[in-house]
Amino acid sequence: MAMRTVKAAVIGTGFIGPAHVEALKRLGFVEVVALCGRNPERTEQKAAALGVPRAYSDYRKLLANPDVEVVHNASPNNLHFEVNQAILESGKHCVSEKPLTRTTAESRRLVALAQEKGLLNAVCFNYRFYPLSQQAKAICDAGKAGDVYAIHGSYLQDWLLHETDYSWRLDQEVSGESCAVGDIGSHFCDLVTFITGHTITEVMADFQTTHKVRKRPKAAVEAFAGKTLKPEDYEEVQIESEDFASVLFRLDNGARGAFTVSQVSAGRKNRLVYEIDGSTCAISADLERPNELWAGYRDRANESYVKDPSILSEQAQPYAHYPGGHPEGYPDAFKNLFLNVYRRIAGESSVDDFPTFVDGHRAVAIVEAAVRSAREGRWVEVDY
Ligand SMILES: NC(=O)c1ccc[n+]([C@@H]2O[C@H](COP(=O)([O-])OP(=O)(O)OC[C@H]3O[C@@H](n4cnc5c(N)ncnc54)[C@H](O)[C@@H]3O)[C@@H](O)[C@H]2O)c1
Repeated sequence: MAMRTVKAAVIGTGFIGPAHVEALKRLGFVEVVALCGRNPERTEQKAAALGVPRAYSDYRKLLANPDVEVVHNASPNNLHFEVNQAILESGKHCVSEKPLTRTTAESRRLVALAQEKGLLNAVCFNYRFYPLSQQAKAICDAGKAGDVYAIHGSYLQDWLLHETDYSWRLDQEVSGESCAVGDIGSHFCDLVTFITGHTITEVMADFQTTHKVRKRPKAAVEAFAGKTLKPEDYEEVQIESEDFASVLFRLDNGARGAFTVSQVSAGRKNRLVYEIDGSTCAISADLERPNELWAGYRDRANESYVKDPSILSEQAQPYAHYPGGHPEGYPDAFKNLFLNVYRRIAGESSVDDFPTFVDGHRAVAIVEAAVRSAREGRWVEVDY
């Protein structure tokens, strides 16, 4: 039987908002009926380009639209609390981009509000939804990796390498106190704790602000896309947030870990690498190569999985939609995440098999502890 049609809206028309629209359209039973952005004219254009019938520049007006059942929040971080709260208050289900909020004071309130309203709440930790992330989890769930002895890895990018690179992610008012740890470290922590089932209990962080003064374009960056800016087109701004960080951590089973995050590593575009050292085997992946997973053994040959539904565990199989040799990646992971969310909304599933606001809150708590640790130069317990 066909699933009932669910009507959705997306707030945010920048990088990731349109990715949400595209992924939703691929589900087949979700209609994206409205798009909302800050600039009315640009939002109209984006809505037309994405085939979305209505455009709003005030999210409150969108929330008054009775046709909309689910709202995605893909706005900058400073609007996550306010907008997510308004979505839930309007009685609509909420799919929020990460980080859930800038502080745990806010994320705790959202967790409570979602529970009180009995509405679906999800956070876009999309890297869980690569078929081979699910396979890694299946290996751990089945006890095939043994006890977790250590976790290590990194998430490296280069888009803030130059002093002329600027983004709202560097503005603490908009992004929250952390840049790199909040923006990409949150993904690393969510993924390794999802795969292993362990919790990060304490962190010891060291932050670096590579460019303490950056040159910010005076006009919106989008308007200059593809053009060379002249010196007079920039203004100098002081930067307080980190663009590089090393974080030691301890897990609930006593095991140790470490990760490095960087947005100033030349040549690394979006390289999330994790390695989980278990007593039976180690599991590792580089998510720029999402169709590969490695398992390492001491006493026998190592294994190399390729994404092929016919060799994946039953648990991971539903996340692979094409035969082996046909790569699946970033946009497909969003589709997988949203499929679980919308099957639940449509009443076809009774489990929250996606990251919820509780998971979003947990990531915010880790980031908050890392910020405090870096400032105070000591180990800090994560206050969930
Ligand atoms: N899960 C992921 O892999 C992933 C990837 C990228 C971004 N993100 C998250 O998504 C969010 C958005 O990031 P982005 O890179 O798309 O940012 P962006 O700057 O490209 O886009 C932000 C959008 O928000 C809109 N906006 C700003 N103020 C608004 C307002 N008052 N009302 C309505 N719309 C408003 C802007 O018009 C713009 O379209 C961030 O929180 C980021 O952390 C997640």
